[in-house]
Amino acid sequence: MQHIHTDVFTVDPLHPDAAIIERAASLLRQGEVVVFPTETVYGLGADAFQPAALERIFAAKGRPYSDPLIVHIVDEESLSLLTPAIPLEAKLLAEAFWPGPLTMILPRGPRVPDLVTSGFPTVAVRMPRHPVAQALIRATGSPIAAPSANRFMHVSPTTAQHALGDLEGRVPLILDGGPSEVGVESTVLDLCSPVPTILRPGGVSLEALRTVLPNVQPPQKRQAENQEAPVEVQTQAQRSPGQMLIHYAPAVPLLLFDGSEATMRAAMLAEARRRQARGERVGVLIADEDVPAFQGSGVRTHSLGSAAAPEQIAASLFACMRSLEAAGVQVILCRSFDERGLGLAIRDRLLKAAGGKIWG
Ligand code: TXA
Ligand code: MG
Repeated sequence: MQHIHTDVFTVDPLHPDAAIIERAASLLRQGEVVVFPTETVYGLGADAFQPAALERIFAAKGRPYSDPLIVHIVDEESLSLLTPAIPLEAKLLAEAFWPGPLTMILPRGPRVPDLVTSGFPTVAVRMPRHPVAQALIRATGSPIAAPSANRFMHVSPTTAQHALGDLEGRVPLILDGGPSEVGVESTVLDLCSPVPTILRPGGVSLEALRTVLPNVQPPQKRQAENQEAPVEVQTQAQRSPGQMLIHYAPAVPLLLFDGSEATMRAAMLAEARRRQARGERVGVLIADEDVPAFQGSGVRTHSLGSAAAPEQIAASLFACMRSLEAAGVQVILCRSFDERGLGLAIRDRLLKAAGGKIWG
């Protein structure tokens, strides 16, 4: 790919400067790509109706065409450009969760380019609540297709610096609106299957979705969590391509520990000491509640936040993985978390980073 200069412009996340937004929107209208903040993670956007612009997303990320894109809109009227029929469930969910971190899979309308849907008969749509994302879509005058602004297979970016690290020289502009509030990607909910089913747990919890649609199904278990090889990756990848098990991985191996808090702490401590004794540089991700158990152990730990506050863990998870990567650790040991609320998404991302394997 040809190297281009990447500008980074700081924008006020709540009251973005109209001139900066217009500069980004005009690039998008010209068929360019732009990185912008959303409440979940940073996105790499292009005009959803310009195939040549969509091509640039795949080129910049190194993403295969088999992985479809989410289309971001600012008003419900735009839905009619994307889908021929808006199911009642979608209307109810939109009322409850839009704008916000919910992506709905809907029947695809005839105008939606194949590059957006990877040829699937469905289209993924989300209305973000970040003021910069909203201002950008409005100023562009078109829905914006955007995957997370990371290189393919890397952890999603929750700051402009993360996006710059992955995409410098490959995109003309990054809008820096500060750290993402939610920190994990949107929940992807399939409304085209017989029963509404979560394909990717994310920023809107299963419990919250069920207050509106009591029959929402959790994501299918992809495999027994202790298996060596992710055997079902291929079939699952065909149904929902972004759901491959090996995904969102940090550049260093991550070992995921599970069990009671006492078991996890003891196993992580023993494994960290064993590796440090061999001269390995080890990064250990724990919760605030684990800190006393590691004090005076000589093991370097980083807390993700309180285990009782999954929104704290979600908001810091990807940034912590990236900072350990940047610090040059050779392996990351991480505890697991309760599946309630945002915990389901946290567990999903940790399992993916761990290649589907649970340690200890
Ligand atoms: O929070 C988010 O969703 C972020 C921000 C930028 O909005 N975007 C994001 O996009 O995470 P991406 O491309 O990294 O993940 C999109 C997911 C993938 O798992 C993809 O396979 C799935 O949505 N997806 C997109 N269209 C689909 C479709 N028609 N059917 C099934 N899955 C679809
Ligand atoms: Mg992604």
